[in-house]
Amino acid sequence: MRIGMLTSGGDAPGLNAVIRGAVLTGTTVHEHEYVGFRDGWKGLVENDTMTLGRHEVKGISKQGGTILGTSRTNPFEGRGGVDRINEVMNENGLDALIAIGGEGTLAAAKRLTDAGVRIVGVPKTVDNDLDATDYTFGFDTAVGIATEAMDRLRTTGDAHNRCMVAEVMGRHVGWIALHSGMAAGAHAILIPEQRTSMDQLTEWVQSAYNRGRAPLVVVAEGFTLEGDDEPHNDRGLDAFGRPRLGGIGERLAPLIEARTGIETRATTLGHIQRGGTPSAYDRVLATRLGMAAVRAVNGHRWGQMVALRGTDIVFVPFEAALGSLKTVPQERYDEAALLFG
Ligand code: F6P
Repeated sequence: MRIGMLTSGGDAPGLNAVIRGAVLTGTTVHEHEYVGFRDGWKGLVENDTMTLGRHEVKGISKQGGTILGTSRTNPFEGRGGVDRINEVMNENGLDALIAIGGEGTLAAAKRLTDAGVRIVGVPKTVDNDLDATDYTFGFDTAVGIATEAMDRLRTTGDAHNRCMVAEVMGRHVGWIALHSGMAAGAHAILIPEQRTSMDQLTEWVQSAYNRGRAPLVVVAEGFTLEGDDEPHNDRGLDAFGRPRLGGIGERLAPLIEARTGIETRATTLGHIQRGGTPSAYDRVLATRLGMAAVRAVNGHRWGQMVALRGTDIVFVPFEAALGSLKTVPQERYDEAALLFG
C-alpha cells in the first residue's frame, strides 16, 4: 500500500514518534510505502510532498515539533476541496491517508471521509481535551515542563516572599493547570471550567502567606474571573484571524497585590510547554498510536481514529472526538481544591 501522512494544527511533543511508529511498522512489517505532505492539509492541497521512509524517521522520536511541518490550514478553503484532494492522492498513487491532528483536523478528516476519501486519524492536543481518548500525547510533556517551571518559580517566590502566578496553556479546559498545579503543590488552581471569585482567590493566597509560604497560583489561559464581563484571555484575533490568547496571569497579579498587599509577579509559560523533547511516556504513547494507525489502514477502518482506553489502544469513529470537549470533572477539581490555600 502507498500511504500519505500529514500533521496538522498546533504541534505537540510526540508527533515525530507517531510518524516513526507508523513508518517503521509499515515499511518493516507490511512493505508499505509512505509519502509525507508538508505543513498539514496545505501540503495535500498544494501537492507539496517529501520522501518519508526508514531513513527519514531515524532517531526522530526524541525530537520536538514535526519533521512534516504543520499549519492550521483548512483543506476546504482556497483551491482545496474533495476533488482536489482526490486528484493529489491519485497523482501520488495513494491508497490511504493518515491524518494526525486535533479537533479541527479530525473534523476536516471526517468531512473528507464522508465524501469517500480513505483516511484514518491520530488524535493530538497538548491540552488533553479530546473526548474519546483518555490521554493525548504531548500532555504529559507539557505538564512536566509546567511543573518544573513552577518549582523554579517557588524558589524565587520564597526568596522574596512574593506571590507567584504561573499562566499555563489550556484554551478551553484546565487539564494542564490541574495536573501541573497538583504536582507543584500550588495554593490555587484556576481553570476555564470554574469561574472562581477574587474573594476566594484572595482567601487562598492569604492563607498560604499567613503560614509563611510564598503563594503559588496556577491559571489556565482560558480562565475567566467570576464577575469579569469581558474575558481577559480574549485578546482578539491575530493577523491570520486566529485567537490571540494569554494575559490572564498579568491581569490577576495586580488584583492579588491590591487585595492582599503581597508583592506578586506573573509568568506566562506559553509555547515552551509545546516545544522540545517529549517525555518517555509521550514517546511510548505516540509510537503505539502510530503503529495502531497502520493497523487501522490495514483493516480499512476509514473514518476512524486510534485512541487510548485505559492502557489499550482502540479504534473509534472520528465523530466520537468531535462536538464535545473533555473537560475537568467537578470531582477532580474539588479533590485538588481540598489542598488549596
Ligand atoms: O490547542 C493547543 C494550544 O496549545 C492551546 O492551549 C493554545 O491556546 C493554542 O494551542 C495556541 O495556539 P498557537 O500555537 O496557534 O498560538
